[in-house]
Amino acid sequence: MSEATIPEPSTPTRAWSQIPAVPWGDAIRSARRMREDMLGIVSERYERFGPVVRQSQGPMRMVNLFGPDANRALLLDREGIFSAKKSWDLIMGRIFTNGLLLRDGEDHRTHRRLLREAFRTPALQSYLERMNVMLEEMLAGWADEGGDLLAFPRIKSMTLELACRIFLGVQGEETSRLNQAFEAAVAASMSLLRLPIPGLEFNRGLKGRRYMIEQFERWIPDRRANEGEDFFSRFCHAVGDDGRPLEDEEIIDHLIFLMMAAHDTTTSSLTSLLYELAANPEWQERVRDEVRAFGKPVLGYDDQLAMPDTIAVIQETLRRYPPLSTIPRVTTAPFEWAGYEIPKGVMVVIYPIHTHHMREWWTDPFRFDPERFQPGREEQAQHSHSYVPFGGGNHMCLGLRFAEMQIKAVLFQLVQRYRWSVPAGYEMPVQQAPISRPIDGLPLRVERIRA
Ligand code: HEM
Repeated sequence: MSEATIPEPSTPTRAWSQIPAVPWGDAIRSARRMREDMLGIVSERYERFGPVVRQSQGPMRMVNLFGPDANRALLLDREGIFSAKKSWDLIMGRIFTNGLLLRDGEDHRTHRRLLREAFRTPALQSYLERMNVMLEEMLAGWADEGGDLLAFPRIKSMTLELACRIFLGVQGEETSRLNQAFEAAVAASMSLLRLPIPGLEFNRGLKGRRYMIEQFERWIPDRRANEGEDFFSRFCHAVGDDGRPLEDEEIIDHLIFLMMAAHDTTTSSLTSLLYELAANPEWQERVRDEVRAFGKPVLGYDDQLAMPDTIAVIQETLRRYPPLSTIPRVTTAPFEWAGYEIPKGVMVVIYPIHTHHMREWWTDPFRFDPERFQPGREEQAQHSHSYVPFGGGNHMCLGLRFAEMQIKAVLFQLVQRYRWSVPAGYEMPVQQAPISRPIDGLPLRVERIRA
């Protein structure tokens, strides 16, 4: 299979208006189905119109680009023309203001360097130690209520509590108030009616953001004065190459964004993972055997690379259900793609979920088949950007190693304590956008494993 999916243009560059466009009627009809069946809709567009498709989105000009070459062009952004800030600001700028992803160029590079310290190995080791202790407590009661539970809300509250403690160094009563504020902020960032009117979801989100700001402001002096192990304390002590520490406002903006970036994505991946391991019990057993071979109750930092089956299962889950199914950018200068001129000021969208299911790159793409990632097959290696659950380039997920570690830490304890299943023939109904999640919460039957 060759790397290039888009032929070199043999004709002069064609104008924006010549790009195949989704007809109005189709766009309106599909807008309603987009959340439930984004993959179906964009696959249909790709089949019908090809790798470049124009679309109207209110007053915004928008173009969809499909395939790994497009992913590479947009994510690596070699010419510096794609703005992450302009696109993400439109989507969530009022709630997650000035988060790392909502910055461009030198400003982004400076802040990424500042935050990076909190993601280095010694920091990750200390998060894992604390996470392991918390997980032992949190997972203890999973089979207490007759063995049936809804996985999604259970995992969501678990990851949120972990985030409050590991990111913010907060626990107890304050956790639930912060949880509420945070939940309101996330819901608002996804709401359609974005007006600060009392009673509206968006307004509740703004209030949630204000609450978090007030709390964090109160805690900053303490975090600056002490050397804590949480992200919050680490950000308070981070110093740039020029010797400048982060200002209070910057610390708060980063923390609020980070909570969102970390929490929803990890919840989404863990839920999808539990589903696939329930639907494919042979893989659940393979992971259990692999974990038991370590002969210990919790994951050690250095064990992480010695888990080939677990790693393949996680990779395959993120292929099938990338939490972020789309990645947007706005062009700051015109550029040419596949023989078309794409002007400045256009929202360009790529679709990891679509690339992850392209028959050109994956064998039987709708099948859960972790071995496709293992030696001898390594289907992901055919193109640098055919597998992009964590994005790529300058904005590549900063929490990648943290996320993988957290997923493995949860799985490590879970498979040793419980066996879980779904009824024969059950297929998880998935809402694929804005973040992948099960529509029915994923009902699981959980059975305790006797020692
Ligand atoms: C499985 C879990 C996760 C997935 C699939 C995921 C995916 C992504 C993707 C695709 C992006 C790039 C978006 C873009 O280019 O527009 C991103 C950015 C980011 N993620 Fe994650 N993420 C995950 C977990 C986390 C966690 C746990 C953290 C923090 C602890 C985190 C922090 C961030 C940050 C800070 C950025 C912005 C990076 C930048 O702009 O330089 N993510 N993530």
